[in-house]
Amino acid sequence: MHIVRNITEDIYFIGSSDRKITLFENIYPVPEGVSYNSYLISDEKTVLLDTVDKSIAKIFFENLKFTLAGRDLDYVVINHMEPDHAATLGELVEKYPNVTIVGNAKTFAMIGQFFDFNITKKLEVKEGDILNTGKHELKFIMAPMVHWPEVMFTFDTTDKILFSADAFGTFGALSGNIFADEINFDKYIVDEARRYYSNIVGKYGTQVLAVYKKLANLEMDIICPLHGPIYRDKESISKILQKYSLWASYEPEDNEVVIFCGTVYGGTEEACQLLANALANRKITNIKLYDTSAINPSYLLAEAFRAKVLVFASSSYNGGIFTSMEFLLSELKAHAMQNRDIVLIENGSWALSAGKVMNEFFDSMKNIRQISDMLSIKSAIKEEHMEAIENIADRIAESLA
Ligand code: FEO
Repeated sequence: MHIVRNITEDIYFIGSSDRKITLFENIYPVPEGVSYNSYLISDEKTVLLDTVDKSIAKIFFENLKFTLAGRDLDYVVINHMEPDHAATLGELVEKYPNVTIVGNAKTFAMIGQFFDFNITKKLEVKEGDILNTGKHELKFIMAPMVHWPEVMFTFDTTDKILFSADAFGTFGALSGNIFADEINFDKYIVDEARRYYSNIVGKYGTQVLAVYKKLANLEMDIICPLHGPIYRDKESISKILQKYSLWASYEPEDNEVVIFCGTVYGGTEEACQLLANALANRKITNIKLYDTSAINPSYLLAEAFRAKVLVFASSSYNGGIFTSMEFLLSELKAHAMQNRDIVLIENGSWALSAGKVMNEFFDSMKNIRQISDMLSIKSAIKEEHMEAIENIADRIAESLA
């Protein structure tokens, strides 16, 4: 069987989705699966743009055979060597031994690391090099660290299509609708695009912005990422580019507040609930309060990328900080979180230690502004703390004004 869709008259989507996967990269929950996109250009020469994850190898090779329609495969362009895309490269070379592998110097070094096959035909490209395939002209744009060092984009100057590797990717399987204009962006795409970006590429904002400069002069009619929907209409292209621009700059999307609460027996949570209530009384809307032990940190990281004001409230634990809060803070640091207004609340029954750890984390991050004094609680919140809660709510309201 084959399940393919045309992107243009001679360019096909031949990827598929894995809905059985539980953890992407063996760490990030993907309850709605993930797609591995692959594209075939059927020109005078046939060109495959990236292979796929092993989990969808069967349908991928059937799709490839169908779209080749009896022809041989002339080129495979490797925009990204990570195994969620390149794991089937060895099998591809076995099936199509005449194929020329197109990549940059780093790509070929990685092929040698991952595989044992001998590369018989290769085309090593660098920034700006062009491959003519008949009607189509493919230009290569290096995109190091978006998300690995060997990553490159391929731009089809004929049809103005950017094959963007992981960039503009999204978690979530594709279900027939492979184009963003067939899916409600605000309802079904943006949250998982943000969670994908923040967790997978979030650390590399500087490098994403550097590649953005190269794209500024490109007229792009279609963007084909390696995960998630294809963008082919002006509105959705504009929306995803705007979101990436904010995320890569570590600028908040929403003038909103998120409260992250690491609580053992509920004393810290009560402080968070009182704060949320005080904020609501100041007409602050869309307040989010998350228990850091109850929600996977990948969702919490995405929320930190989204909101302007972040509150961190944590129990002390083992002379340090509560485990789930420590993991969240280490994820924020690892993903270069910066440029936020924050508030800290610590709790401890016999030794207050969480605040010290939180301060150490945030001292090592850029442009983090503590907008109020830290609130320290011993075991449970009391009437005497209410003035401090109200004061914190005032400072947050000022920040969001
Ligand atoms: Fe989808 Fe960086 O791999």
